[in-house]
Amino acid sequence: MENLHNDIYPAIDPSVTKSLHQPGKVVLITGAGRGLGRSIAEQYAYACVASIIICARTSTELDEVEASINKINSAVKVTKFQLDVTSETAVKQCFEAVKEKEGRLDVLVNNAGASLEWVSIDESEPGKWWNVMEVNLKGPYLLLQAFLPLLVETARSNNTVVDVVNISSIAALLTFPQSSAYQLSKAALLRLTEFVDVEYKDKGVNAVGLHPGGVVTKLSENNDAIRPYLIDTPALCGGFTVWLTKGARTWLGGRYAAVTWNVDKLLSMEEEIVKGDKLKVKLVV
Ligand SMILES: NC(=O)c1ccc[n+]([C@@H]2O[C@H](COP(=O)([O-])OP(=O)(O)OC[C@H]3O[C@@H](n4cnc5c(N)ncnc54)[C@H](OP(=O)(O)O)[C@@H]3O)[C@@H](O)[C@H]2O)c1
Repeated sequence: MENLHNDIYPAIDPSVTKSLHQPGKVVLITGAGRGLGRSIAEQYAYACVASIIICARTSTELDEVEASINKINSAVKVTKFQLDVTSETAVKQCFEAVKEKEGRLDVLVNNAGASLEWVSIDESEPGKWWNVMEVNLKGPYLLLQAFLPLLVETARSNNTVVDVVNISSIAALLTFPQSSAYQLSKAALLRLTEFVDVEYKDKGVNAVGLHPGGVVTKLSENNDAIRPYLIDTPALCGGFTVWLTKGARTWLGGRYAAVTWNVDKLLSMEEEIVKGDKLKVKLVV
């Protein structure tokens, strides 16, 4: 379909479209050690931001991403944090370090995510089921709770709009049997995005919930039920995220967007989407 994409294309590709560049920005990405988070980090390197803070638990993977960023654009500062997003203490320590070393945050990408094998509710292990909620909902909440004041301060002192990108999923809108933990966690993250919007949009924070496409990654590769849908490249998500944070796309605040959507078509629908208050979780009666 002409309005859908499976791979990066010039309008969202900062390696060929210089108008997507975002010099001076500080970007923090959780789950940046592999998969989609890695691609988001790499696309921000092409976008010539000032500084990328990459977070995950596995330090060897962070080293690989650092090397990749350096290869793409050695002018970009890279900071690595071995961070478990479910740890309030670790998130606070990360915040203190970012505040001290950077003094600003322009883009927060809540990307770290976890899933588990699909099982019906009575067959699930409570600890594993709840861990999905912890990583996919408590994690983004902790990052927001710690970093929102710095985001607000960055917006205020630079008279600009800053961005929160919550990597949700089309799964947020589905009710597949045996996937209650993951699909509920992603739905809750979309709703959390709406709360960020209503509480902070007037303070310069633009929060969007993204479906990052269907991509073969460690998280998705062992699930036979979704394998036919894993047809997108990681670069599509990276490029769309860069496009999203280029130039105050505040009309998308609090809404859901899918990286597979053609951005020119999406822009052409702004009025319809805003007037109809579309792309939000609702009960339609
Ligand atoms: N792949 C898809 O088709 C797809 C579709 C829809 C949505 N998503 C969402 O996209 C995001 C990225 O997933 P992915 O597919 O790229 O999976 P992935 O390759 O497995 O990457 C997940 C990342 O999250 C990190 N992570 C996991 N648990 C963490 C924790 N407790 N604390 C900090 N970091 C943690 C992992 O690093 P460590 O293990 O080293 O911490 C890794 O860097 C997730 O939110 C996922 O739900 C993916």
